[in-house]
Amino acid sequence: MPNTFGKLFQITTWGESHGPAVGVVIDGCPPRLEITAAEIQAELDRRRPGQSDIVTPRKEADQVEILSGVFEGRTTGTPISLMVRNADQRPGAYDEMKDKFRPSHADFTYATKYGHRDHRGGGRSSARETVGRVAAGVFAKKLLGGIQVRAFITRVHDIAVPEGALTEFPSPEAIEATPVRCPHPATAAAMIERIKAVRSAGDSVGGVIECRVQGLPVGWGEPVFDRLEADLAKAMLSLPATKGFEVGSGFGGTWQKGSEHNDLFENRDGTVRTQSNRSGGVQGGISNGEELVFRVAFKPTATILQAQATVDTAGTATELMGRGRHDPCVVPRAVPIVEAMAALVLVDHAMRHQAQTATFAS
Ligand SMILES: Cc1cc2nc3c(=O)[nH]c(=O)nc-3n(C[C@H](O)[C@H](O)[C@H](O)COP(=O)(O)O)c2cc1C
Repeated sequence: MPNTFGKLFQITTWGESHGPAVGVVIDGCPPRLEITAAEIQAELDRRRPGQSDIVTPRKEADQVEILSGVFEGRTTGTPISLMVRNADQRPGAYDEMKDKFRPSHADFTYATKYGHRDHRGGGRSSARETVGRVAAGVFAKKLLGGIQVRAFITRVHDIAVPEGALTEFPSPEAIEATPVRCPHPATAAAMIERIKAVRSAGDSVGGVIECRVQGLPVGWGEPVFDRLEADLAKAMLSLPATKGFEVGSGFGGTWQKGSEHNDLFENRDGTVRTQSNRSGGVQGGISNGEELVFRVAFKPTATILQAQATVDTAGTATELMGRGRHDPCVVPRAVPIVEAMAALVLVDHAMRHQAQTATFAS
């Protein structure tokens, strides 16, 4: 099922950028979970366009409508359907892109694979698809209870949070303090300047999001194909514009020897802990009780307001001038999306862990 994610806690997203609406069906959510539309709306507001002057100015209120599965403020255990109507559409801005492929976007591959596509606003390849993921992520975050999932930006283009500057688990207030969602104020200010500068030049930049999860028990994850980090990698690389994933020490760990890299065990007040966390909280595909730490790389936005060489649907060389209202950097709006996908993976694995380790009467 190409539009469905998860094994026991499943989401199916639907809709296109310039269709009437986008949404999600959540299947497998336990009953009696208290939830309000306002809680879902708060997360959608972190994702929505037009939220600041460093993202796309498209004005979408992204008002969520709960169609099923929630009765008198609590889930019923039946499929939950959530919908957000598309409002601020300017399909004319995409006329030229009907027949010309945007470099590094999904136009060429969709056109070739399907032979028929909704090109307006990128259709299904638009990041509007992630509205449903963020809405579903609210249910997953609530099910996780005291487990805290926090994503934030550590790099935009070549501007990075200095090594070792973020020792504390960043608070939601620190992350949301600036529109760029980097909890290091001096770096955040430089990032905002850079995004504004590339936007003025009709260009774009990418960046890195780090996600940390505190409070995970030991034992979530599967040992072979569905390793916790493998499912997280799939979840993150299923997001549009992602180009890389690393957990713990990641690619940097290859610079160290085993004697430098190993996380040494110790008994800390009766609990087995590690002295360092280069594993990023996962060993053998299973959470080890330390903080889960991973990073996701996002490329520069493909659609830029500059003329670029391309070909048309007939294969003829031409030029395309990008139009429409685009994010000069997708990373600030991707922060709640990364958190939602992490929460979805973790809830799915929590359920799988319970299903596999439950004690049955013999
Ligand atoms: C939050 C978010 C916002 C995005 N906004 C834009 C945008 O305004 N313009 C654009 O060309 N791509 C944007 N993208 C990326 C495209 O959706 C993506 O590049 C496209 O689907 C092709 O997929 P690929 O880059 O993963 O190959 C955005 C991605 C995210 C996560």
